[in-house]
Amino acid sequence: MSEAGSEWWRTAVLYQIYVRSFADTDGDGLGDLPGIRSRLPYVSDLGVDGIWLTPFYPTPDADHGYDVSDYENVDPRFGTLADFDALVADAHDLGLRVIVDIVPNHTSSEHPWFRNALADPNGPDRARYVFRPGRDGGPPNNWESAFGGPAWTEDERSGEYYLHLFAPQQPDLDWHNETVRQAFQQILRFWLDRGVDGFRVDVAQSLYKERDLADVHIPDPRPRFGDWHTGLQQPELHDLYREWRQIVEEYPGDRMLVGEMFLADQTRLAEYVRPGELQQTFNFRFLFEEWEAASLRACIDEILAAFAAVGAPATWVLENHDVPRVATRYGGGAEGVRRARAAALLMLALPGAAYVYAGQELGLEEVDLADELRQDPIFARTGGRRAGRDGCRVPIPWTTGPGVGFTTGTPWLPMPPWWERSSVAAQDGDSQSMLELYRATLRLRRQLRALASGRLAWRDSPPGSLVFERAADSSTVVCVVNVDAPSVPLPEGELVLASDELEGSFLPPGTAAWLEG
Ligand code: NOJ
Repeated sequence: MSEAGSEWWRTAVLYQIYVRSFADTDGDGLGDLPGIRSRLPYVSDLGVDGIWLTPFYPTPDADHGYDVSDYENVDPRFGTLADFDALVADAHDLGLRVIVDIVPNHTSSEHPWFRNALADPNGPDRARYVFRPGRDGGPPNNWESAFGGPAWTEDERSGEYYLHLFAPQQPDLDWHNETVRQAFQQILRFWLDRGVDGFRVDVAQSLYKERDLADVHIPDPRPRFGDWHTGLQQPELHDLYREWRQIVEEYPGDRMLVGEMFLADQTRLAEYVRPGELQQTFNFRFLFEEWEAASLRACIDEILAAFAAVGAPATWVLENHDVPRVATRYGGGAEGVRRARAAALLMLALPGAAYVYAGQELGLEEVDLADELRQDPIFARTGGRRAGRDGCRVPIPWTTGPGVGFTTGTPWLPMPPWWERSSVAAQDGDSQSMLELYRATLRLRRQLRALASGRLAWRDSPPGSLVFERAADSSTVVCVVNVDAPSVPLPEGELVLASDELEGSFLPPGTAAWLEG
């Protein structure tokens, strides 16, 4: 690890591990912490700076861990606190940082606070949640759950409704309640004391609700990003994140906070990473761009300008556990994989930090599961209108043969017969594979000094392509991406990396290259 105070997070590449899908050591078909620990050498060898673990806390699993019933423990299916400590120690020995997910917007409905809140409407735990009387025989306002249906469920015993921006088993906390704020300070310290290097803050834009809980205007069709929801993104959030920043800064080692913010407006997004607030926020604009040169360039420019204005690093994401795999989004099949390879070179040449979701480095495609196998609450709550997110959560293939090295039991989601062809074992050492491309790209990213600090400057290039340089301390790296032009000439310089074979000194469509010069 780099030293304390180095602001390592400005350029870090973090590897997202969806805990239940990574590696299973006890044969129950669910990944676990010892499994992750056993695979840390693989992660380190990939060339990333750290890992982000999705929730591993005790959970009834209504939303696969994002419904936490105890914030200071490990679900027995995933291991123990001792396993967690051993995982952190091993990761640190390998020079990997460890970021954990924190879920402050809502608890599980099985959390003791919520059980108490239902059992005793006059007790103190009731005020930790958002309970309100109904209106005209229905919910208190017109808010909708992100998973479909109303954002309110009636507590039949009292006749009041409680708010849940997600599933009914995920009741929202009332962040205006001081005890909630204090409890989370304690939770942060609990994990910081155990050595974590930071937190990924779930639903980071929505903790505070507008006090009146007034109706909101819901655009139709409903936009992908949450900018329109005037009942959320309250100003109090900035104070909270300043407070959390102070807490992480009390600890040595430059620990960090990254917010999961689902906003399109870059200026508003960047307000959360002003000095003294969060160090990073995810930025999903890049992820949702089409594979189209002009719009990619405009999006990159807008993001870089907004984040530079507040002195914060941009973050780049192509995949996570909530969206279809990138190769599939870019068209699927050979073409989708080809574009995903080029996109890796593009993303990892951009200024700032980046996130790689486990399996992205294997070029895994979205799996189309039979409806009866789907487990994501989105599928059930929308009556099957939205397929949900299971297709990007299918466990990682490590080897060939039954269980593909993920499990000796029955995997929690079935793996397709062709899965083993994408396994780590199948790709290891094959210079044409996606895995070796990621390894080479991440290795070079560390070596090429210009990629650590150089500003991005665009160069002229044919329509349908992107060419930019990053220059620092007399070293220059040029990234050229043929998005969909008929052919793009290689710029001058020494070719150090290409996502696929070139045609002489030309890049065919869906190809990217790095040059030094
Ligand atoms: C965002 C997480 O990434 C997603 O998986 C989860 O369903 C929601 N937050 C609710 O916690």
